[in-house]
Amino acid sequence: MRLPPRPDLEWKDDGTPVDTRVGDVYYSVEDGLAEARAVFLNGCGLPAGWASVPNYTIAELGFGTGLNFLAAWQMWRDTRPKQGWLNFVSFEGFPLDREDAVRALKPWPELSELAEKLCTRWPVRAKGVQQIVWPEERLSLTLHTGLIEDTLPQSRFKADAWFLDGFSPAKNEAMWSREQWPAIAERSQPGARAATFTVAGAVRRGLAEAGFEVEKKPGHGRKRERLEARLPSHVPRSTAPINPRVAIIGAGISGACLAHALARRGAEITVFDHANGPALGTSGNPLALVMPRLDAGDTAQARLLIDAYLSAQMFYAGRPGVHVAETTHLPRDAAETNRFQKLQADPPLGLEQLEAIRGGGVLHKASIILRPAALLSSLLKDVSVRWNETADLDAETRRVNGEGFDAIILATGWHMRAAQPELDLTGRLGQVEWYASKTLVPPSALAAGHYALADGPTRLWGATFEDLMDDTPRVSDAARQDNAEALNGLSPYWAAEARRADARSRAGVRATTADRLPLIGALPDHRALVADRQTLERKSWRLPPEAYGLDGIYVAGGFGSRGFTWAPWAAGILTARIFGDPCPAPEEALNATVPNRQILRKLKRNLL
Ligand SMILES: C[S@@+](CC[C@H](N)C(=O)[O-])C[C@H]1O[C@@H](n2cnc3c(N)ncnc32)[C@H](O)[C@@H]1O
Repeated sequence: MRLPPRPDLEWKDDGTPVDTRVGDVYYSVEDGLAEARAVFLNGCGLPAGWASVPNYTIAELGFGTGLNFLAAWQMWRDTRPKQGWLNFVSFEGFPLDREDAVRALKPWPELSELAEKLCTRWPVRAKGVQQIVWPEERLSLTLHTGLIEDTLPQSRFKADAWFLDGFSPAKNEAMWSREQWPAIAERSQPGARAATFTVAGAVRRGLAEAGFEVEKKPGHGRKRERLEARLPSHVPRSTAPINPRVAIIGAGISGACLAHALARRGAEITVFDHANGPALGTSGNPLALVMPRLDAGDTAQARLLIDAYLSAQMFYAGRPGVHVAETTHLPRDAAETNRFQKLQADPPLGLEQLEAIRGGGVLHKASIILRPAALLSSLLKDVSVRWNETADLDAETRRVNGEGFDAIILATGWHMRAAQPELDLTGRLGQVEWYASKTLVPPSALAAGHYALADGPTRLWGATFEDLMDDTPRVSDAARQDNAEALNGLSPYWAAEARRADARSRAGVRATTADRLPLIGALPDHRALVADRQTLERKSWRLPPEAYGLDGIYVAGGFGSRGFTWAPWAAGILTARIFGDPCPAPEEALNATVPNRQILRKLKRNLL
């Protein structure tokens, strides 16, 4: 099953939620909040623990109703250091529906404001990683959905505190299994604390074997005892930069999402772009569509496509120029018909997102039509953008046009090909056509290989995906013809109106990778990789995603024709990387998108 299962939820007469498959309660309705405070917050030494660090990370096993998260959030509101940031990472295999979470959090009126903030942005039911950011609260929640044995090993973060809150160990072995303890220790800062309600022998032994000093403490309420554990701190805790200076080269959708994500986290941003205003390059069509590419199997690639799509939904929600719109997506050929059938038999997203329709198609209920000009301006509103300035990068000294930065990100789209040829980008020409209709319509989209978008008066259709003959994007009659035929296939009615209209064309170059996945991560140290070929071969070419990256120089590109979908996800990953925050993607996704992959492929085949 690709969709994570629901818990077998029942409600006791007093309102306590129970998972009947496990036979245990999520919390005690009598004093669940007091217990969360006593066992987890107090057990991990909070709020003192976060008083003097720039970013504090709590990791929780078992997100459940979000009660522990809200208890921590409430304490954070009352006691957070001015410049601090709280990361809350949690793991859940059987996510509750939003309505159940609302009901489960009702008994605590003092949490009602926070509960509403959480529940209005309650994570979508999907396996993967979703990150919700509340910048005004200086808080983020990173939720890994899936069975703990799959998600914990894929997660990347360093926790200061652990809330160990599976169901009781006798009933919920997976959440307390032996394999977990070393994984927990690996993901801990020196001096990390852990707390739990259980004093089961296996839990104490597991924590102790992983290096924690474990202590029983008097329990809360009717429980006799609880546990506190602590890792020794022989080495200092790694700390995050508070206001790093970050240069972003390129003010297209990639650069704009990065600028916004980094700025709300506290970075000082300078964006460089040689254009004289926003949305003039490839990101500048009058309308754009954000729709998921859904693979049929449950592979790492299929999961990251969904993570990226959900990340875009969340990032764009409520911004200027953004309209949620249904997209009717019909298979374009036999292979796609087959893929859609498999998808419909085991969908990766629930009915609130996706539905099968007649003709073998699918309806994307939460896809987005956006107006790039309005969106990009809003994302760049509060950051310094140097228009008309060509950026000259000195990667060795981390300078742009002679100015030093803590981090530099290349978000230069197609221009990356000339400056970083080792990334092996290919240019594809994408042409769209549009006109203004006299009939205003609500936003809606049709897709089958090509797409047709309607929003208010604007009608836009395309896009071609052609080989690039030279470096200048040029519109062509052939592409116009191609798009007209595609529109006729999607909607003859539209096509008829379009023929009478005075349509305009626009072409842009899409920077595309061989495997159609983006490049997200450190700019590879090409020379060092080539020099180390033999060592790499001995290690069977296995290396962590950050290896051989130039220090503090990053890339977010190779987005092909899905720039608006990839950009927010890439921005989340790089923001976490620069701040040392929990990564909002599993390790397998970082490996699949690592910018050095094409260099490694060539080294393996002796092509370099
Ligand atoms: C006691 S409840 C957590 C309560 C939660 N901390 C709260 O504040 O409401 C335990 C949670 O662990 C989750 N869980 C149990 N087994 C799991 C597994 N194998 N993988 C992931 N999550 C699991 C359950 O679905 C449940 O939400």
